[in-house]
Amino acid sequence: GPYLKTKYIGRNYIYRKSVDSTNTMAKSLPQDTPEGSLVIAEEQTAGRGRTGKSWESPRNKGIWMSLYLKPDILPQDAPLITHVAALAVVRAIKSVTGITPGIKWPNDVIIDGKKVCGILTELNAEMDCVNYVVVGIGINVNTEKFPDELKDVATSLLIEYRKIGTHKARNDTKGLIDRKHLLAEVLNHFEMLYEKFLSGEVADIIRECKKLSVTLGKSVRIITKGGGFDAIAVDIDDRGALIVEREDGSRQAVIAGEVSVRGV
Ligand code: BTN
Repeated sequence: GPYLKTKYIGRNYIYRKSVDSTNTMAKSLPQDTPEGSLVIAEEQTAGRGRTGKSWESPRNKGIWMSLYLKPDILPQDAPLITHVAALAVVRAIKSVTGITPGIKWPNDVIIDGKKVCGILTELNAEMDCVNYVVVGIGINVNTEKFPDELKDVATSLLIEYRKIGTHKARNDTKGLIDRKHLLAEVLNHFEMLYEKFLSGEVADIIRECKKLSVTLGKSVRIITKGGGFDAIAVDIDDRGALIVEREDGSRQAVIAGEVSVRGV
């Protein structure tokens, strides 16, 4: 498209009207699939979220996409790619709608307290070697109404745009948010940030994530396999881990993928 400025992110792509899950499809691609390949669909029939949840992916309403990456990194650095993706989505939303979302650590993009985008990063690694990483991004773009069980926790760009009414949104003829433009911006920003990440410039990425964080300074409940505890989120370290402080003053690093965080 006219807006895409990337060298390799999204240049090779697989587009489908309907798939079970773009992440599942991306994970089944052959190992010689080029770095940065995109799987994108108008609809997912079995969209997946974190911790085994499903992800609503109605036809033509959102951006349901996965990127196939082959970074030369250690497996323990893969969670940073989730931060790269979240930042790319924030910047893209800002440039297309004028709205600046927040980031709920580690992977939710939030507007007005509700989730507009979720990210599911899946790693395939053996020993110290990453075979591939699939980053799945789901953005609620033109959804007008959510089912009752989601309406307090989920939102869409269209809903928020109508509330705030910035003059920046590039709408298509029906008054909807232009998904193609938004997609191109996500890919453009993702490539810039991913290149930074690969060259080791993680500090800038973390700094921006911290500025946008809606989690820092808040009481959180850390939910682990063995139970959970309450703490205050105080920092994000250079691995992307959340630093929390417990009532007794002790600090602990919480790693994405191992825990889930709830506001208290
Ligand atoms: C979450 O917030 O729990 C993560 C949601 C991730 C949804 C996206 S939509 C595209 C990709 N394919 C999937 O099945 N899931 C991700």
